[in-house]
Amino acid sequence: MTATIIDGKAFAADVRARVAEKVAALAGHGQPGLAVVLVGEDPASEVYVKSKGKMTVEVGMKSVEHKLPTDTSEADLLKLIDDLNNDDTIHGILVQLPLPGHLNEDLVINSIDPAKDVDGFHISNVGLLGTGQKSMVPCTPLGCLMMLRDHHGSLSGLDAVVIGRSNIVGKPMAQLLLKDSCTVTIAHSRTKNIAEVVKRADIVVAAVGRAEMVTGDWIKPGATVIDVGINRIDAPEKGEGKTRLVGDCHFDSCAEVAGAITPVPGGVGPMTIACLLANTLTAFCRSKGLPEPEGLTA
Ligand code: GUN
Repeated sequence: MTATIIDGKAFAADVRARVAEKVAALAGHGQPGLAVVLVGEDPASEVYVKSKGKMTVEVGMKSVEHKLPTDTSEADLLKLIDDLNNDDTIHGILVQLPLPGHLNEDLVINSIDPAKDVDGFHISNVGLLGTGQKSMVPCTPLGCLMMLRDHHGSLSGLDAVVIGRSNIVGKPMAQLLLKDSCTVTIAHSRTKNIAEVVKRADIVVAAVGRAEMVTGDWIKPGATVIDVGINRIDAPEKGEGKTRLVGDCHFDSCAEVAGAITPVPGGVGPMTIACLLANTLTAFCRSKGLPEPEGLTA
């Protein structure tokens, strides 16, 4: 069997188009605003933040960027977040992670108004999601869920294995799959017989950050494989010193067995920013007492 490729780039473009349509339709109620806060000069984060800003403007939202020096004090950062919490033109706040080591990440994230926490990292949103209540949902797992729902229709009763237990992807992904009535297992670095555990799954979500760890012999024939990993590895076949991006799944061998699979790049990656915009729209609608945008929430 050769797997269907789930085209995350096209899917993300469609999500952004639907967000843009809704933003235009709601113009009479105001303009959604997203503030991104970047502390320090991590080059990867700068590229990511620039891309976020561009796409925010493209869907018709207000984009605000706060770039702060590496040695910004915690008090100054908390003051900025407080100002953004109280700014009626801002509906979503994202503090780019990782923060420089002298800043307490938990304290900073938990100072964001939960209603504006478009990353879904605030402890209130984590608790709401865990108890099946309305919350802001982390962007990457939300993107994975959208692609899975699109591919399967109902996920009810399916066996899902999430590989990885991070707060950003693994844990919220498991909660979302459980909410959609999957039988959920979280596998991780200490899991015994991990290949056998994964082989039971109708749905595999790999989010461990280990290049090409999951191979085709781990996959149940016909399963859906969602690869969240983005790992840069040496690619001597492309020339000396060259690199390429790969996922946590060995694409060729998994695609031989799976029913559907997301590629890297062009799979889950583009969905993260698309879902950030969807979350900002959701936060805007909630703040105005408007119905939530259909098909763009968990
Ligand atoms: N750094 C890498 N990914 C993310 C993300 O989704 N949100 C935030 N805030 N920081 C990140």
